[in-house]
Amino acid sequence: MKVNLPEIDEIQVNSYHEQLDVIISENCKILSFTFGNLDQQSIERLKNNGTILIGTCTSVNEALILEQSGIDIICVQGIEAGGHRGSFTNENIPQIGGLSLLSQVRDSVKVPIIFAGGIYNARTLLAVKTLGAEGFQIGSLLLNSEESALKDFEKLRLKKLKEGEITLTKSFSGRYARGIRNTFVEEVENTDFILPYPYQNKLTGELRKAARIQNNSEFVNLWTGQSISELNEGSTTEILGNLIEEVEKN
Ligand SMILES: Cc1cc2nc3c(=O)[nH]c(=O)nc-3n(C[C@H](O)[C@H](O)[C@H](O)COP(=O)(O)O)c2cc1C
Repeated sequence: MKVNLPEIDEIQVNSYHEQLDVIISENCKILSFTFGNLDQQSIERLKNNGTILIGTCTSVNEALILEQSGIDIICVQGIEAGGHRGSFTNENIPQIGGLSLLSQVRDSVKVPIIFAGGIYNARTLLAVKTLGAEGFQIGSLLLNSEESALKDFEKLRLKKLKEGEITLTKSFSGRYARGIRNTFVEEVENTDFILPYPYQNKLTGELRKAARIQNNSEFVNLWTGQSISELNEGSTTEILGNLIEEVEKN
């Protein structure tokens, strides 16, 4: 299979500023972002437009930065969460467990909190509600859903997943993300050649595409969080509906 690797100077580092024009012209009511904070001018533009802003933190320090700059709602991302870390203040990203992080952010900020990380049933949802979350962000629970973009080989790999196989890695994108440790992760982490985001992401893109075509789970990025015990069948509506029903019975 022929792959077309990108030239380094063809890789665009996207600025969010162009996207703000669309958000404002379309009169979007809510904007949720991750990987950083918006600049003050953008925050003011969006607030004048009546847009509610949701930013992501992975430490108390990041939560304070978001609150002080006027962000309306904070999404607290525990270390359990699947996918990319939203960290934005440190080279060595904070690796704070959800229990510690959520309760300390609750003690430190006044704005409403959404929690992300490890919610997969009524007990986990009610636990983070007790700790102060008012909203609940769910990812991994939906990986096996009908709407999931995963191919069958990826869903099958997730079904066979063992807890020790989940890791944080920069190998696919240049930013830390939580997913399955496979041959690609191990090989890349054994080198000193991980480029910063978004360069590593672009560089590995063609390989990941080829691996998906060939149903090869050893060379794709399979993001997942630490709560893997129940992979639900059905549509997202059914999965979330069942969760809500279970919560309401408690
Ligand atoms: C496969 C996958 C893809 C994700 N993609 C995004 C994304 O594009 N943007 C984002 O803000 N969060 C993304 N997330 C993170 C989720 O929004 C959420 O924070 C996380 O899944 C919560 O933890 P959980 O996986 O334990 O439920 C992704 C998570 C997974 C598992």
